[in-house]
Formats: sequence, C-alpha cells, structure tokens
Amino acid sequence: MSSTLRAKKVLLGITGGIAAYKAAELCRLFIKAGARVQVVMSAGAQEFITPLTLQALSGEPVRHALLDAEAEAGMGHIELAKWAELVVVAPASANFLAKVNAGMADDLLTTLLLATEAPIYIAPAMNQAMWANPVTQRNLSELDLTLGTRLTLLPPDSGEQACGDIGPGRLMEPVDIVANVEASFVRGLHAQTKGTQVLAGKHVLLTAGPTQESIDPVRYISNHSSGKMGFALAEEFYAAGARVTVIAGPVALNCGSYITRVDVLTADEMLRAAYAGLADGIDIFVGAAAVADYRPANTEPQKIKKNSQAQAMSIELVENPDVLASMAKQGNKAVTMVGFAAETKNVVPYARAKLEKKNLDMIVANDVSAEDIGFNSDDNAVTIVTANKEMVLAKQSKQAIAKLIVAEVAILHNNKG
Ligand code: C5P
Repeated sequence: MSSTLRAKKVLLGITGGIAAYKAAELCRLFIKAGARVQVVMSAGAQEFITPLTLQALSGEPVRHALLDAEAEAGMGHIELAKWAELVVVAPASANFLAKVNAGMADDLLTTLLLATEAPIYIAPAMNQAMWANPVTQRNLSELDLTLGTRLTLLPPDSGEQACGDIGPGRLMEPVDIVANVEASFVRGLHAQTKGTQVLAGKHVLLTAGPTQESIDPVRYISNHSSGKMGFALAEEFYAAGARVTVIAGPVALNCGSYITRVDVLTADEMLRAAYAGLADGIDIFVGAAAVADYRPANTEPQKIKKNSQAQAMSIELVENPDVLASMAKQGNKAVTMVGFAAETKNVVPYARAKLEKKNLDMIVANDVSAEDIGFNSDDNAVTIVTANKEMVLAKQSKQAIAKLIVAEVAILHNNKG
C-alpha cells in the first residue's frame, strides 16, 4: 500500500540529546515511505550524530547554519520554511521546547519553527526528571495552545533511559512516529478539523460588531466596527472545542452553522441577549462589540424633516447600558470576563484602568489611531492585559490574533478553576 507520505516534503529537525541517533532511523523510514527529507540539525545534535550520516540517508545536504551564504539569497531559513509540507522535530530537547515557546530564533531550526506555516510534529525526548519538570510541561502546554491545530505532539515512551533512569522521556519509536504522521494525513488532520480541544465542554458567549441606535426610521448612530475581530474569535473558540454563541450587531459577515448566532441592533437588545446567555450557563464572556455609548433619548416615529430655517439641530442623547460591565457585575466569579479597549493614546494604561473599573480578567487593548490596523482592517495589533501580565501581539491577521487571544483566555480560564 502506498504511504500517505509519498512525495511529501518533510523537514526533519534534530536537536541535541542521546536519542538523536534514532533520528537516522527515522530519516530512513521517511525516505522508505517515499517522502523527500531535508534535515536541519542543532549544534547539540551534531555532537551526538554526524551530519554526514543524515546526508547519506536523506540524499540532501544537511543544513545547520542560520546565515548560509550558499542558500538562496542568504535567506535559507525562509526558503526552507516554504519548502516544507510538514515539519517533524525528533528528538526535541527540553531546551528546544523552551526556546520555541519563548519565540526565540537563534539558530536555523528555531527560526524555521517561527517561519513555517506547515503542520508541526514534535517528539520530545529527555531524562524523565527533565520531562516531569513543571517548566517543561508548561512549555509543552503553552506550545500546544499557541500552535493550536498545527501542532501534533508525539509524546515520549516510558521505560529505561540511556542515563539509567526509568520513566517517561524516551523518544517515541521511529516506526511509531512515522505511523502517527501517516495516520494524521489519512484522517485529514491537516485541514482545520483538529483543534487542540483546550476548551472542550465550555460555553463561550461573545458580542461582536457595532450597535445601531435609531434617531428616526431612516437615520441612526453607529460606528465603524466591522465585527471581524469578534467573528475571528468565535471561530477560534470553536476550534478550541468550545460551544460558541455570538451576539452580533449589524455586520456583513457570515458564520458557520456550528456557531449559535443572535442578531441584535441596539445596545439594549445586546444586553438582553447577553443576560439570556448568562442564564443559560456560560464559562467565558468576551465583549468584542463596539457598543454605542449613547443613544437618542427619543426615537422619532416619523422621519425628521429638514428645517430650512435652522442652521443647526441637536439630538439629545442618553447613556446606553455597558453590556460588559453589567455582565461582570452579575458577580459570577467562575465566568472569565474579557473586554476590548479601543484607544487612540495611552493605550495600555487606559486599558489597565478599564480592566479594574469593569472588573475583568483580561482586556485586549488596540490602538485605533493607526490607519492600517483596527476597525475595518483585516489586520490588528494588540496588547493583552491581565492583572499581572502584558503581552504585545505584533501586527498580523485578525485570525492569527484571535488564535493567540483564545490561547491566553484558555490558560487564564483553566487556571481559575
Ligand atoms: O469603556 P469602553 O467602551 O472603552 O470599553 C470597551 C469594552 O466594553 C469593550 O469590550 C466593549 O465591548 C464593552 N462595552 C460594552 N458596552 C458598552 C460599552 C462598552 O459592553 N456600552
């Protein structure tokens, strides 16, 4: 039977550990399955096994230098990252996991991990105490969250170790690694179907988009919110295993039928829908809507006629309810409350003040003064603010931002309870 790995371009990363010798067998098995393999070794890996062995087995030169003058235009890492259809790191050392989790890119392999958009398989191997260390476990779970659907963890086997210890930390057998990678292609796991189900069984309620407050039957007060950020979040919460309900203001966006959608127009309607959601039982509430702060005191039943005598007119406005603050005030401490703060200056200090005032667990601050991000754009750049943390997310697609926000919300929520 032909392997699902036939003609697949596999980038095999090897890091420093005694199990590096098993990577030679792994390389041979990938080649046997019909894959093309390019090997990247860390400096440590080369102490355990020579590049020449891997070169002979893969039939390709082994790469290890980050700045390789011979590689295409000196940008070998980007070229390699684009070439790879899947990345397998085996063995992955504790140091490698820590570096990748920290977003470091100080050698070719870690740089590739940042640059690739391909599915990633990580097969850790290390001493059992290093594996059991909470820092290693935290790195793994955070990686699992941030890489989401792209990461498949191939956990180590348990047994006798090279150092004489007995316990978990032995590299998964090369045949099993290949079988796992083959099987995930069979199951089509590289489509968006496999989420890391960190929020399985949780109910997430979100508000998204603007609200529309009528002045008369033809006019209204609203804002530029497109709802894109809220809808991207809804998708990512769903991908993380949650049941998702979106309370949407008037937006020109569709969402999958797997998301429950409640359409509303006004802040009052949004508040009522949010309370109904709360009564239904929720675990996480995210206020991503740009709720109008004020609405006309009276909505005229007939169209207001232009008064040619008057050069000015005024509309009396009254304050709208604050949906997010009202939800937080309901006092259910088990519900994780997340807000957004669109600011044009002093972005983070204002956001932190809002976090405290509205009694939230997290606020996502964005600077709406920049023209190329925010409101109607497909991109965003935000700072995640919690009681004890600030995390800057550089400009990227709203979908990518949403994935990172969901990962942080999941850590916060799961640590609560
Ligand atoms: O106070 P400010 O409007 O800047 O706060 C923004 C956050 O509060 C957002 O998460 C927004 O969804 C929420 N909000 C709300 N109801 C309002 C105003 C803001 O839910 N009336």
